[in-house]
Amino acid sequence: MQPMLNIAIRAARAAGDYISRQVNNIPNLEIESKSTNDFVTQVDRMAEAKIIETLLKAYPDHSILAEESGKSGDSDYQWIIDPLDGTTNFLHGFPHFAVSIALAHKGRLEQAVIYDPMKQELFCASKGEGATVNNKRIRVTKPATTEGALLGTGFPFRAKHHFPAYQGMFNEFFKSAADVRRAGSAALDLAYVAAGRLDGFWEIGLQPWDMAAGVLLIREAGGLIGDFNGDDKYLENGNIVAGNPKLFADMIRKLQPHLTAELKS
Ligand code: IPD
Ligand code: CA
Ligand code: CA
Repeated sequence: MQPMLNIAIRAARAAGDYISRQVNNIPNLEIESKSTNDFVTQVDRMAEAKIIETLLKAYPDHSILAEESGKSGDSDYQWIIDPLDGTTNFLHGFPHFAVSIALAHKGRLEQAVIYDPMKQELFCASKGEGATVNNKRIRVTKPATTEGALLGTGFPFRAKHHFPAYQGMFNEFFKSAADVRRAGSAALDLAYVAAGRLDGFWEIGLQPWDMAAGVLLIREAGGLIGDFNGDDKYLENGNIVAGNPKLFADMIRKLQPHLTAELKS
């Protein structure tokens, strides 16, 4: 296994084990609001500190982009970290959240780890070497259209002005899909697409740390990821569609009538 992936796994497990122990301590946590519907606790911060400490101990010169502490360092290697994806679930004791860690080299994603500490599922990918869950190879599913598909999504709960456009997209997909899931962790949603548990996924307004590891997992599992124009600007504009190549094309086509000027840019 790639040494850098190994270190990422060590960091994700350390943070995940800490987070799962804190589930019993939720009533005692001090919850701060970063912005509307965006919460953070010392668990997010402590988990992030553990991850960064582990990564920098092994690679002191690497740079960091982390949700809670921001950017540091100046290196061609950048670790992109969401220490706790699904904080709202965590705070409600809803057992579906994850640690997400990706490594980019000169802007290209090379390693990815998503760890679900409650189910003890470890999703990993290294560029060119495929994707796994608990060491078992994973692949995206095969449906060519949304007909009968199980789709994942996230609601635009922090940018509610997108809700009318989102409803248009939802109606469009819901007409043909078997059903739609909103599970509350974008990182796990993407890992589930890679693992074939969801056929496709879309969400408005994600951040790089929500997506980076999931993007590499999906690519390595044979899927495609793009923004709502089908381009690769999702890490900049935060809008993402994912699925196998045919389903991806079908979803992009079906989204077009529902895009506002803001969502097209
Ligand atoms: C959030 C989760 C959620 C998604 C939000 C993200 P957080 O991450 O991934 O599913 O809908 O857009 O911000 O804040 O829990 O790390
Ligand atoms: Ca997140
Ligand atoms: Ca987070």
